Parts: sequence; C-alpha cells; structure tokens
Amino acid sequence: MGIERAVEHVKRSRHLIVFTGAGVSAESGIPTFRGPDGLWRRYRVEDLATPEAFLRNPKLVWEWYAWRLKLVKNAEPNEAHRAIALLEKLGLVKAVITQNVDGLHQRAGSKRVIELHGNISRVKCVECGYKGELDELPKEIPPRCPICGGLLRPDVVWFGEPLPSDKLAEAYREAREADAVLVVGTSGVVEPAGSIPLIVLERGGVLINVNPEPNRYDPVATVNVRMTAVQFFRDLIRALKAPSP
Ligand code: APR
Repeated sequence: MGIERAVEHVKRSRHLIVFTGAGVSAESGIPTFRGPDGLWRRYRVEDLATPEAFLRNPKLVWEWYAWRLKLVKNAEPNEAHRAIALLEKLGLVKAVITQNVDGLHQRAGSKRVIELHGNISRVKCVECGYKGELDELPKEIPPRCPICGGLLRPDVVWFGEPLPSDKLAEAYREAREADAVLVVGTSGVVEPAGSIPLIVLERGGVLINVNPEPNRYDPVATVNVRMTAVQFFRDLIRALKAPSP
C-alpha cells in the first residue's frame, strides 16, 4: 500500500510541497477529465477549452463554464483539501501547486497556492485586459466587460495557451527547493505542469504518488500509494498525530 513509507518520508521532509490535479476534488463531487466518467469522455476539448473554440462560439463555451462554475460554487472542500491546509498550518507543507481551477485549496484554508491553470471564478476581458471575480453565476451569457463592454472569458489556461509565467516560475522555484513532493490526483499527462514533480526527483528528492489508478509517475515514484486523496490524508493525519512509537 505504501502508506507507511509515505508517512515516514513526510515526517522526514524538510521542504514538502503538494502537487494536485482534478482527483483531489473528485471527492467534492467535481468530475475529473480523463477518468472513466471524465469530462473529456463526454465533451470535445476542441469545442470547449481552446481560444479558437471561444472565438468561434463564446456562448457555447460560456454555457459549459457556467455549468462547471455552478458545480464548483456548490462544492465543498473535502477532507484532503482540509488536511493539506492543516499540514501547511503545522509548517509541514510549504506550498500547494495545483492544476485545478476550482479554488477549493484556498477555501479549505491553504495560503500558499500556486494556480498553474488559473481560476474558474475569475474572468478577464479579451479587449481591455480587465480582470475580476465572478461572485455569482453570470446573468448574461457571454458576460460583458464592465469597463469597455468587450467579451469576458474565464481566466483559465486553455489548450494551446501559455501558463502564467509568474506562476510557472514560482512552481519551478518551489520544486527546486523541495526535498519531497506529494503528487495527488493527477494523470500528469498535461505539460508543462506534469513535469514539475519530476524536478524534485531529479534533485534527489522524494516523489510520493497518491492515486487509486496507475499514472505516468508510477514507474519513477519513490512510493506509489493506491488510495484516494481522502483515504490517504485521513491515514496520514492519523499517523502524524499518533505519538511516535
Ligand atoms: N483521489 C485521488 N485521485 C483520484 C481520485 C480520488 N478520489 N479520483 C480520480 N483520481 C485520479 C485519476 O485516477 C486520475 O489519475 O485523478 C486523476 C485525474 O486525472 P485527469 O482527469 O487527467 O486530471 P488532471 O491530471 O488534473 O488533468 C490535468 O488537464 O484537462 C486539463 O487543464 C486540465 O488541469 C487539467 C489538466
């Protein structure tokens, strides 16, 4: 199972970071992308998550994002999100690098969260660059910029778009600093995010891969833990609270 070895590595770590994907939010009821009932099994990326798709049909793209935003607004951080925030409070976790756009790490209390792919609750204007928070679902679809009346788009990274360079630089810095990384709930197939945990390994650190299914990190991980995020963090917190024998 690997949980015992994972606990030992976490206890010994001096600069532990957490790298998360959609799987960490699965137990909050938010669908993943590539699992058996993943979003990309039901929808075509080309129609919904590319700049071309948005220019071609902003209404369709916004209908899909409004549906996902509703899911996110109605979701609650789960035990894994909360455990990660607790471990940061205890000084064990130094940063969370997430591919997720749902903001659940921050809602669980994590302070140092690096959002590589943006945030679905934020919008930006394609004309004037205005950025704002969407406190509730947009009244009109597609929503219009309050400054210039231009088209607003979700402030997320679409396929074919570069990641925010400041976030990527922060993530590389954290990975270079880390002596251990918990990789939780990601297939790891999307670059450049997917290679970030490998930097920790390349510098002699430890990669703990938490996933109920095999993924790209299995062959290189220091420890593979075949558990869901909630199961893993429940056991980890219990083990860390337990007085050492
Ligand atoms: N706990 C932990 N892991 C889980 C759970 C769970 N309860 N349920 C599913 N998983 C795992 C799946 O086995 C899979 O390996 O989560 C992973 C989800 O993989 P993807 O759906 O590919 O999501 P992710 O890795 O985050 O995708 C990366 O791709 O579509 C783009 O921008 C999008 O950020 C996303 C990126």
